[in-house]
Amino acid sequence: MSLLNKINTDNLPTHLAIIMDGNGRWAKQKGMLRAFGHENGTKSVRTTVEACARLGIKNLTLYAFSTENWNRPKLEVETLMKLLISSLKKELATLEKNDIKLNSIGNLDHLPKGVQKELQEVIEKTKNNTRMTLTLALSYGSREEILNAVKKISDKVKNNIISIDTIDESILNNHLYTHDLPDVDLVVRTSGEHRISNFLLWQIAYAEFYFTDVLWPDFTEEHLYEAIISYQKRERRFGKTSEQIQ
Ligand code: FPP
Repeated sequence: MSLLNKINTDNLPTHLAIIMDGNGRWAKQKGMLRAFGHENGTKSVRTTVEACARLGIKNLTLYAFSTENWNRPKLEVETLMKLLISSLKKELATLEKNDIKLNSIGNLDHLPKGVQKELQEVIEKTKNNTRMTLTLALSYGSREEILNAVKKISDKVKNNIISIDTIDESILNNHLYTHDLPDVDLVVRTSGEHRISNFLLWQIAYAEFYFTDVLWPDFTEEHLYEAIISYQKRERRFGKTSEQIQ
């Protein structure tokens, strides 16, 4: 039985979030520069996006560039930004073909103007697509996201738009970059690292985690299927007992 046939399409994660890690080590293993790893990482992005859409996953979020990634060498940051622009240009057709809507989260004002422009264009052109929402986390940091939400809510309290007593989880949720997305069901991280790295800290409260040693440029459809099969074997109890779930 192929891995694909083992997937129960009635029990897919509604929101899959991926920390794409290992581009640099992949390139180093091949005696190449880190940029070569990132370039090859874009191929795994395309394969994964198309495979998720085909399976019927409704929301896929990719951690493409963190707030901390700005501290990388200038040349690497420039390379990543150029890759983003070229990928957005090139992959608009892939998104259209697969009926995928592009979304982005993060401190987007920090991105170079060229990236912002390309991003806005693709978001605008794909806004009516409904099969899957692909969210790119760019210049994204979860602590910053939560801090911003707290500031926005505080401002509304100060201006008597909302009262402190009404602040609940849904109000905080509505002030996050991810306000239109459901909670994350499954987080996948490649490259053997077992960390969350400031990614969707609020949204992963009840997520399942799947770690693989595979480096991101080597990540294939089959690896994605393995992650989903593993997810489908878990019992998600959300704090309840096993008996209550059954
Ligand atoms: C982590 O590998 C990867 C990144 C910081 C960037 C991810 C970017 C891409 C996959 C390419 C462009 C993305 C899109 C959405 C088109 P690393 O550099 O930290 O690897 P290392 O830990 O082995 O050094």
